[in-house]
Amino acid sequence: VKTIAVLTGGGDAPGLNAVIRAVVRTALGQGLKVWGIKNGFGGMVENQMIEMTDSSVAGILPRGGTILGTTNRDNPFHYPKKQDSQIVYENMSAQALCNLRERDIEAIVVIGGDGSLKIASEFYHLGLPVVAVPKTIDNDIPGTERTFGFDTAVGVATDALDRLHTTAESHHRVMVLEVMGRYAGWIALHAGMAGGADCILLPEIPFAIDSVVAKIKEREARGRLFSLVVIAEGAYPQGGEQSVSLIVEGSHEKVRLGGAGEKLAREIEKLTGVESRCTVLGHVQRGGTPTAFDRVLSTRYGVAAAKCIFDGAFGNMVALRKNQIIRVPIDEIAGKAHNVTADDELLQAGRAIGICFGD
Ligand code: F6P
Repeated sequence: VKTIAVLTGGGDAPGLNAVIRAVVRTALGQGLKVWGIKNGFGGMVENQMIEMTDSSVAGILPRGGTILGTTNRDNPFHYPKKQDSQIVYENMSAQALCNLRERDIEAIVVIGGDGSLKIASEFYHLGLPVVAVPKTIDNDIPGTERTFGFDTAVGVATDALDRLHTTAESHHRVMVLEVMGRYAGWIALHAGMAGGADCILLPEIPFAIDSVVAKIKEREARGRLFSLVVIAEGAYPQGGEQSVSLIVEGSHEKVRLGGAGEKLAREIEKLTGVESRCTVLGHVQRGGTPTAFDRVLSTRYGVAAAKCIFDGAFGNMVALRKNQIIRVPIDEIAGKAHNVTADDELLQAGRAIGICFGD
């Protein structure tokens, strides 16, 4: 392989630039030519690519976001096209492959989450040599113990909890912190543990409001007149469903999560009589500079992805297991999820120290 390309797909995560830098430097070091595909898979269809040099990746290690850009609506197999002010979907994968061929690109590195992995797997089965790097602040990609970006998001949420702690204590309030995590509660679980939360509510465990109320009252009875509750945005009450709203994004209507924390705070206030406030962290968790851990992990992933290409080990995702970087076939993981389970060691540790999980 003499020429490769790298792209970043889906939502951004701190560490993306560190991966790009590592892929580019490792590949250039072996005499390869490297293209950067702009704006995710959309850039493959639209032929938006730039040649990457040492100077394109200089100084980007600590920078959040992605220098290549990314988009969430960029599936070449189901690609949106405007036709008479209406959106129609077309399979543009052949066009995308043709754009790669025109530049003699023989293999690509896809840095992405579950959606990007599915697309990467489809391209792989069309004969495109692909290597993937697991990205998401949610840490919900199977086959790896860590996705990059997760550590940074947990750090931001933990810092928020530390700050909420002192104001909650001063005002004798219940502070609800809503963190990201549609289907997986890893951020809530880890940040809740690190930030000393009293209740942690996860999408994997529908919660009973009575348990949350009982925990707050039990603390009150011990003279602890404030409480901290962490709720993942995708958590919902027993017998209920996820809190979703419809928003319009450009010409698309999209279902969005939202409001789980605020709803919970109102309910807690009503049932306990304790003044309650909700903070929604949102995209603050995704922006900004990656932690040292994420910079190191991203660099290891980027180097390992480039090495997969040198070895011809295509169709793999690089992954972290027992602190070793390994290769996992994309087909084993595409379309699957990695969720918090009842026997999770950290969840059990939380139970052992009296954290309420709402069940
Ligand atoms: O998957 C990462 C994530 O940050 C989720 O935790 C969150 O629900 C979603 O992306 C938000 O997506 P968007 O950036 O499209 O609002």
